[in-house]
Amino acid sequence: MASPLRVEPRAAGRGSGPDGVCLGTTVKDCLRTAAAQLRAAGCPTPELDAEILLGHALGWSRARLYAELATLVDPTTETRLATALARRAKREPVAYIVGEKEFWSLPLAVDEHVLIPRPETERVVEVALELVGELLCAASGLPAGRPLRVVDAGTGSGAIAVALAHELCGGDRGGSARLDLGQAGLVSSRRRVMLIAVDLSAGALRVAGANARRRFPAPAAPIELLRADWTSGLGARTVDVVVTNPPYVSDAELAVAPPELSYEPVAALLGGGVDGLEALRRLAADARRVLRDGGWLVSEVGSGQAARARTLLAAMGFTQARVVRDLAGCDRVVAGRWRRGPLSCEGGTAEEIAPSS
Ligand SMILES: C[S@@+](CC[C@H](N)C(=O)[O-])C[C@H]1O[C@@H](n2cnc3c(N)ncnc32)[C@H](O)[C@@H]1O
Repeated sequence: MASPLRVEPRAAGRGSGPDGVCLGTTVKDCLRTAAAQLRAAGCPTPELDAEILLGHALGWSRARLYAELATLVDPTTETRLATALARRAKREPVAYIVGEKEFWSLPLAVDEHVLIPRPETERVVEVALELVGELLCAASGLPAGRPLRVVDAGTGSGAIAVALAHELCGGDRGGSARLDLGQAGLVSSRRRVMLIAVDLSAGALRVAGANARRRFPAPAAPIELLRADWTSGLGARTVDVVVTNPPYVSDAELAVAPPELSYEPVAALLGGGVDGLEALRRLAADARRVLRDGGWLVSEVGSGQAARARTLLAAMGFTQARVVRDLAGCDRVVAGRWRRGPLSCEGGTAEEIAPSS
């Protein structure tokens, strides 16, 4: 069967000739040919994709590829790479092909049941960590006798829940302490934080479970998995923070989306309705029932949605509604605090989270 990886026939042990003509299939040849193939298919980052796919086929790091450019590639690897390139040429995302995506510096398994975690969602994790830190430090606001509960609503791969648990509950290698929650917050949080990862999709929860177990192999893992429609499955439990990256692609955005998006689960993208905020609207309404007085709702929003999302939260009775920018300067996260009647607990004011305007 002809290989879709179009390389010159192998000339064992010879590598590239002095004029640059390919005499054998070296790492360098594979990279060049693969990138050309992906460029022709319209992939926006052909060189990077070629490196990741060849690295995956060989089981090597990208650094090793560049250290061994003249090494000949064996036929089995060539075939594996050819298969991967054929998939990528049809614009399947690289993360699905290699089955993994890094988030919060943690490798996470991904498959077709889950959204590929995006770098901008790390900002949601940062904001949630700051707010959890404040709640932990404002000890008077914490209900006695139960751990601080954080719900990751629409967990997908478990990206947000696993990253938060990694920071707040240690994990096998301990949190990276990327944010300084204050010694008191970190020390107490290791004992007291519980994550509840919720999704409607059984396939997504399987992936989230695998990622949670990878970080927390012990039986007393701090992440509970729950299949439910947003927070409806929590029963009578109250929670301290609901954090979410809900589906927010609007109908209009979907029409002009890159082909890669068609590989991601519909339930992870759609649900935003006409204005992109429909899922948040439903979730926020739900969250009011389970959030304890002084608890926070933290949500990622799409480009151009932040101001309307903040207004939405304020109109639903959330106080201190605010907008947080991502590293690209885009308003990316909204947060609002739920107050049940008389103010019974005062947490911090999160001054470091600057409103966008
Ligand atoms: C945009 S994805 C976010 C995934 C993950 N949190 C992340 O940031 O990578 C939204 C997730 O919400 C889930 N979802 C959609 N509607 C839901 C509902 N009504 N209840 C619970 N989960 C829902 C989808 O299955 C999907 O996994």
